[in-house]
Amino acid sequence: MHPERWEHGSDYGSIAGQTLGASADADHPWAEAGQTYGCGRDALCALVEHGVQTRSWRRLWLPSYFCEDVVAALDSLPIEILRFADGPWSPEPSIVREQLVTGDACLLVNYFGTRDRLGVETEGWPPGIDIVQDHTHDPWSPGAHCSRASYAVASLRKTLPLPDGGVLWSPLGLPLPPAPQLTEAHAARAAERREGMEMKTAYLAGGDVSKDAFRARLLNSEQSFGGGQPSAMSKESRALLDRLPIADFRRLRRENHRYLAERLTGSTTFEVFHPQSSTAQGCPLALVILCPSQAAREDLRRRCIEARIYPAILWASPAAHDVEADVAFSSRMLALHCDMRYEREDLDRVVGALLR
Ligand SMILES: Cc1ncc(COP(=O)(O)O)c(C=O)c1O
Repeated sequence: MHPERWEHGSDYGSIAGQTLGASADADHPWAEAGQTYGCGRDALCALVEHGVQTRSWRRLWLPSYFCEDVVAALDSLPIEILRFADGPWSPEPSIVREQLVTGDACLLVNYFGTRDRLGVETEGWPPGIDIVQDHTHDPWSPGAHCSRASYAVASLRKTLPLPDGGVLWSPLGLPLPPAPQLTEAHAARAAERREGMEMKTAYLAGGDVSKDAFRARLLNSEQSFGGGQPSAMSKESRALLDRLPIADFRRLRRENHRYLAERLTGSTTFEVFHPQSSTAQGCPLALVILCPSQAAREDLRRRCIEARIYPAILWASPAAHDVEADVAFSSRMLALHCDMRYEREDLDRVVGALLR
């Protein structure tokens, strides 16, 4: 990174131009049987349509603490959406099993990659229920590998520097929907995103690219995901997926997470979130910190942005959301990126800005 262009967080740049091995020996939980899609929402929407048509799904339970863009993408599908109280602070999914009836599907989330035992939480469910797991935040966790869920989905573009991509598989070996076609709309958004990512990489290296120009492409393409017909993944991203050193990426992310957590523990302005459910084999998506109030979070976020540090809020709850625990977490949290882009000196700079 060019010293004057240093920044931390936000979208990935492109690594497509870097020397990568011919093929990385990625051990995907979906092995050969996974079906890739344009994004996580495309995978989930295709699954829900398939569930309605072939498994008589009538109701889909989603956790109350969740990405509302995903909930919105399910809006037009012929299924009733219900919510159960659940969030990252709960060691295991807290759905009331007695409420479930035949024809229900239930989505369980490995929040921030810190609930990696999710895969074994599938015993003792009433008959006629399908469990769907969302492994977006750590698709290669032990829980994803040993899952006994009917279906599992993941967005691949949150943990990997890919312009697009999501995956659907069935740990139980159930039939999947027919393979999707690459839609024109998706090919265009993936191309725009790829260009934005390449421009960001050039910008960070000191090239003649404006920040406004790459951000416009990244923001515009991001806003267009998750609508319309589910698409296949772009062939460029599909080819890149096969070459990414995923095990190394996970190791680096886990080490960075540990380093940041150690350095930031003991702050008087925020606390480091340590869920009881995280294990040494899981790989957290980001380091989550919690401020004492929303005002304190906004203040810290403003200071981060001034220092060119761009943490994420996962997820902002809509104004109408009234589950107290969700609002309390969402309004006080920041997720600090700790992925393979960062070396110790980057993280030290983040720590310096946060503890100032
Ligand atoms: C847990 C989870 N599931 C699914 C999705 C949807 O993924 P995509 O944005 O690729 O559609 C997201 C995106 O933020 C997510 O965080």
